[in-house]
Amino acid sequence: MHTVSQLHARDSHIVFEQVGKTYPGAATPALTDVSFSIGRGERFGIIGRSGAGKSTLLRTINMLERPDEGHVRVDGVDIGTLDEKGLVALRRRIGMIFQHFNLMSAKTVFENVALPLRVAGVGRAETASRVNELLALVGLADKANAYPAMLSGGQKQRVGIARALVHRPEILLCDEATSALDPETTEQILALLRDINRQFALTIVLITHDMAVIDEACDRVLVLDHGHAMEHGPVWRVFSEPKADATIALLRPLRKRLQAQAHSPEIVDRVANG
Ligand SMILES: Nc1ncnc2c1ncn2[C@@H]1O[C@H](COP(=O)(O)OP(=O)(O)OP(=O)(O)O)[C@@H](O)[C@H]1O
Ligand SMILES: [Mg+2]
Repeated sequence: MHTVSQLHARDSHIVFEQVGKTYPGAATPALTDVSFSIGRGERFGIIGRSGAGKSTLLRTINMLERPDEGHVRVDGVDIGTLDEKGLVALRRRIGMIFQHFNLMSAKTVFENVALPLRVAGVGRAETASRVNELLALVGLADKANAYPAMLSGGQKQRVGIARALVHRPEILLCDEATSALDPETTEQILALLRDINRQFALTIVLITHDMAVIDEACDRVLVLDHGHAMEHGPVWRVFSEPKADATIALLRPLRKRLQAQAHSPEIVDRVANG
């Protein structure tokens, strides 16, 4: 028999221990004493208003930002202790997608996805089969020879997702990956992330300022405000019993949307009955 705390320890994929970070010359820290953990295969959301420290926190998971206090552990390893070679290996286990897709405009869709494999010295035949498999997975098998400028925002993000998966990572970091997309396209991309999470047992860490995205795509959520972890827990609990003022403020637009939805049948009824 395992106790609950033993299970947590065994299943934690990413652990933050009292993480702090102040950018050189900044008056206030970007992160202060942040501690929480993310389970293996979990879809974990980080929410907070602009400047709360979300991107900084996400980027400590692949050491694009180095904390100046505390520790980040991936699979129990303190990644602050890794040398260059260790960091390269770590970064291959962690894919990342971005708000503005970060595709290379002079390269085709195929070449964009193939690039990380070429850099890693993977051979031609294996690269081709891996890239084609991933383009099929994200629904872009017919766009291999297209250039990014010829694609919609949703299609560009699908290319970003395919590229993020080339090294068969165990973690996918998403920095505002749907913030540049319309609501319908956002739903499609979130559905794709859900499929990938299930199919590959991928741990997904997603940051957004949109509570509706958290509601749609995450199991648990952390609320960040001015670099502090305000609260975290299952999405249903944080949404139904928000404790921090920051959470309540972030929930306001979602509440309005839910109320509008709840009212709509009544409005439809009123319209129908003149
Ligand atoms: N490279 C940097 N140098 C100095 N300060 C930075 C740097 N990057 C971020 N900051 C500062 O650190 C704080 C946290 O920034 P961060 O980008 O992590 O916030 P965020 O929650 O991702 O915001 P947004 O929702 O606008 O993307 C902000 O005050 C920001 O101005
Ligand atoms: Mg950000």
